[in-house]
Amino acid sequence: MAPPRVLLADDPKNVETAALVMRDGGIVAFPTETVYGLGADALNEKAVLKIFEAKKRPSFDPLIVHVTSPEQACKLWSEVPEVAKKLMKKFWPGPLTLVLPKSDVVPDVVTSGLPTVAVRMPKSEVAQSLIRLLGKPVAAPSANVFGYTSPTSAAHVIEDVGDRIDLVLDGGECRVGVESTVLRIDNDGAVILRPGGVPLEDIKKIIRVKSVESEAGRPEAPGQLESHYAPYTPLVLLPEPFSKCAVGMEKSLEACRERREGSCRTGFLAFRKKPDVAWLESGFVLSEKGDLREAASNLFQAMRKLDKMHLDLILAEPVPDEGLGAAIMDRLRKASGGKNANAAFFENF
Ligand code: TXA
Ligand code: MG
Repeated sequence: MAPPRVLLADDPKNVETAALVMRDGGIVAFPTETVYGLGADALNEKAVLKIFEAKKRPSFDPLIVHVTSPEQACKLWSEVPEVAKKLMKKFWPGPLTLVLPKSDVVPDVVTSGLPTVAVRMPKSEVAQSLIRLLGKPVAAPSANVFGYTSPTSAAHVIEDVGDRIDLVLDGGECRVGVESTVLRIDNDGAVILRPGGVPLEDIKKIIRVKSVESEAGRPEAPGQLESHYAPYTPLVLLPEPFSKCAVGMEKSLEACRERREGSCRTGFLAFRKKPDVAWLESGFVLSEKGDLREAASNLFQAMRKLDKMHLDLILAEPVPDEGLGAAIMDRLRKASGGKNANAAFFENF
């Protein structure tokens, strides 16, 4: 397929064009407040299948359906307990996705055959007007190749899936920068399937949240797969901020460089400050002020930049595991595929 058309989202005519492409069964990448989505008419099975192809997404991984109101969401679910109503009232529009038993309206391809469907109402005005103009719910995963870092700009989308989609609506950079929080709802509360843009602490003020149960075998959400959001360059997570583990880390890296005859080009994903060391090839700071919101909005962009620098290794510093930091830590753990920067890792690297 030829490169996609790229249209600026701030012109309403372009959003209309995007809705027409979707109405005709095409797939369109569009900005949301979290990350870019790759959308199709959720009720058109053929169009939804094109999303799986473009992303190289395994068919067992269900999609999120995007709506413009709680009423539209309720038509996609067969039952809506009080907890869900409370959550929609408090957090919609916004980065919270609710998983509930699906109604017959939702095609099985959208949910990968699961009896439940994930739905969210995005806050982004472009996303809302696109869905409204289509007049149908929009199925949209993040617009990246499956398993890779999510896109927070139109350029990221074009790099990843540009030659396999019909249109990109360019709405600039995504404000939140990490995906929505995914919650499965049942009658007596909720289970968190993926930490994201709405902090768990805020949700717990309103409802009871049970701990994550990751059943053996098929993951309940691929967010629960061990490796996801991963750059091509190996990324390892430091056990603590660099200032606290610098001595051990430098020894390990030194030994590593000797064994690899110098070829251990190392990049650094820092929380507040880049380490001032000679061996560092390149580094990015997520937030100098230590603001977790700012850090989240810079995360995927920084990971993609480091990934382009032909490094051998990316060291990532942990951030405080609270508020949006929980979503950042989740993405860093998945991006590292569970690899920690410890002695065992460096011995085998
Ligand atoms: O912020 C977001 O959520 C972005 C924007 C585009 O809305 N979308 C996004 O979609 O991140 P995706 O497909 O990359 O991630 C959706 C997650 C996956 O982990 C998927 O397995 C899970 O939601 N999910 C979808 N339907 C589900 C279901 N019925 N039960 C359990 N998990 C589900
Ligand atoms: Mg994704």
